[in-house]
Amino acid sequence: MSLAKRSRHGRTAGIPALLLAVLAVTTALAGGPAQAAEPLTLHELAAAQGKYVGSATDNPELSDAPYAAILGSEFGRITPGNSMKWDATEPQQGRFTFERGDAITDFARAHGQGVRGHTLVWHSQLPGWVAALPPEQVESAMTNHIAQVAGHYRGAVEAWDVVNEPFNEDGTFRAGPFLDAMGSDYIATALRAAHAADPDADLYINDYNTDGLGAKSDGMYRLVSELVAEGVPIDGVGFQSHLAVQYGFPEGMRQNLQRFADLGLDVAVTELDVRMQLPADPAKLATQAGYYQRVFEACLAVTRCEGVTVWDYTDKYSWVPGAFPGQGAATLYDENLLPKPVYGTVRTALGGDDGGGGGPGTLKAQYRTQDQATGDNQIKPVLNLVNTGDTPVDLSTVTVRYWFSGEAGAASYTTWCDWSPLGCGTVTHRVVAADTPKAGADHHLDVGFTGGTLAPGAATGDIQLRLNKTDWSNFDEADDYSRGTGTSYTDAPKIAVHIGGALAWGIEP
Ligand code: XIL
Repeated sequence: MSLAKRSRHGRTAGIPALLLAVLAVTTALAGGPAQAAEPLTLHELAAAQGKYVGSATDNPELSDAPYAAILGSEFGRITPGNSMKWDATEPQQGRFTFERGDAITDFARAHGQGVRGHTLVWHSQLPGWVAALPPEQVESAMTNHIAQVAGHYRGAVEAWDVVNEPFNEDGTFRAGPFLDAMGSDYIATALRAAHAADPDADLYINDYNTDGLGAKSDGMYRLVSELVAEGVPIDGVGFQSHLAVQYGFPEGMRQNLQRFADLGLDVAVTELDVRMQLPADPAKLATQAGYYQRVFEACLAVTRCEGVTVWDYTDKYSWVPGAFPGQGAATLYDENLLPKPVYGTVRTALGGDDGGGGGPGTLKAQYRTQDQATGDNQIKPVLNLVNTGDTPVDLSTVTVRYWFSGEAGAASYTTWCDWSPLGCGTVTHRVVAADTPKAGADHHLDVGFTGGTLAPGAATGDIQLRLNKTDWSNFDEADDYSRGTGTSYTDAPKIAVHIGGALAWGIEP
């Protein structure tokens, strides 16, 4: 990963330009990769193929500067996760509030991004007063809401999710105040009202579990076929794509998108995330990466697929853990705003490199113990790093983390490298206390290298490490996060490897 890229992500923001220049020269002298042009962003990679890549966002997140820097650079469209919904824009009848939505369109304008407006008519996040209206007043309340909100944002949004989630799983219409008052005609009425309020916006119907072929997407297909035949203003169909590794990939996604495109409509993936039951493990993460890849490939394969929006790009702000307890790890960036290996997968699907030479995903950690006792005064991990990629890895950019708990006693540690074919002189080691201590992981042994290169397919061989507290009090290793009991090497997903600051292997506690 180039320094320039990390700089755009705000992670080298504190490093003075002169030092960056020195680092770049040092890399060149060391025979490292030439400092080529900045890698393209996800959105730039997609734009080269006539698509966009977008992200949902929400107002409180915009004050998180490192978050906002990535949102503003890596994505070409944004969708407000909440602030244009009915409960946000018209909490009481006739009292409209646009401040939070305006903050989203202001951000987009400042960063040259488009906006997907979300959403005008939806059964959820609908203030109670709407459902309490007498049925004969619901239509005028709906058309007034659309006129005011879509009218206010005219010129500032590219596309509106006019109607959100109108279907049941069996493809029938979902009950709610609008269906009750107007029958399914409410959808055509809403689209006409949106067209009147903003004739230039692309008008979408959006739903979930319609990504693949099936009863629910057949319902959507019947509806939009009729709307098109009747000349109702509709431009596109949105496929939310809230996927989960435990439910399988939606069958026939590409064919499904194509049949809607064949009606003369645009299609878009509007809310992509791929969740899993926590804790994540390498098998689930591999399945997830495959799903992301297939979604992007489906959109690339369908000419009328406009783009893919992820439902926020980082686990730091994903809605998944709140909505699906026990699930998470659903997005492209981790909670520290570092790109995960799946980010590289998406880059590759978009025809780019995986994020930079020697970038994420090219090293794995293996572990064995040479100390079966859990209650003595030393911890003795043995590590082996393997280059699983096809480019050499500069070991000076690599750090390894082995988490353990220090228990009571001295807060200071001594660390040792006992033996390594690399030469212990090139191995750096220290203990780092966790910012947010977790059970079994309130400290980690941080291992780095002063130099050296690991060729594709090569392994470091044993790195025999040892640590003790300076007061030589005992540990209780039984609950240590990274500890294993095997005396021969196995892959160690609970030991993390970072390359150039980005997580390349393992799951942090
Ligand atoms: C979610 C938001 O992300 C959450 O912050 C909020 O609490 C609930 O709604 N389908 C949609 C989105 O169309 O509007 C939902 O957004 C996620 C599911």
